Amino acid sequence: MGKVIAIDGPAGAGKGTIAKLLAGELGFSYLDTGALYRAVALALREKGINPEDSDEKIASALKGIGIAFKDEKVFLKENSQLSTLNSQRPDGRDVSEDIRTTEMGHYSSVFSARKAVRDFLLDIQRNASLNSDLVAEGRDMTTVVFPDAWKKFYLDASVEERAKRRYLQLKEKGINITESEAKNDVVERDARDSRRDIAPLMKAEDAVLIDSSSMTIDKVLENIMKVIRADH
Ligand code: DC
Repeated sequence: MGKVIAIDGPAGAGKGTIAKLLAGELGFSYLDTGALYRAVALALREKGINPEDSDEKIASALKGIGIAFKDEKVFLKENSQLSTLNSQRPDGRDVSEDIRTTEMGHYSSVFSARKAVRDFLLDIQRNASLNSDLVAEGRDMTTVVFPDAWKKFYLDASVEERAKRRYLQLKEKGINITESEAKNDVVERDARDSRRDIAPLMKAEDAVLIDSSSMTIDKVLENIMKVIRADH
């Protein structure tokens, strides 16, 4: 198993940007676990599954789904023998764009509260660290998926700042959204992701808290690198 840097935090805290930069700086692989939850939500919706459906129905719909994350692209295969596709040569459909809609943001948050979904993704996430050093970001990296991670961070920012970032991010992608819709989306997802029963978003006791509300990306990266170098 490789070294793992685990980063958790709420929607729009900048986890993705920071994790990518950090991975590049250190020569680690980057794992965006939110993308995996989004891909599962897409697959479930395409199979006609609703949030009210039973765990059994969800678990059965997940059988045969294969996912891979490679070079920041997400691949989905609907009739797969393996849940983790070969990440060197993923043979699934590239769903990287389809999972970035506000609709999939919503459904990924809703379905991520379900045990069948979290169980399904657990091994896929852990497998990513088997052959490589990893920067993994999400909601339960420091608490559940990689509790023994080499370094743990909790990246936070004010609701206003996160809503602003999410708004700009979506606008850049050509998604039509107002600032107040972006704020509602962030607030609603925060509440659901941190109040769910299984693996809720929370700061691990041993995670270093970084509030990026009034920090530039470079400053956040510098602070994280200081912690990493401190006992290198
Ligand atoms: O990071 P994101 O916005 O792409 O994540 C989408 C949803 O997936 C998020 O609202 C909650 C869920 N998620 C999760 O429950 N656990 C993770 N480790 C990552 C994401």
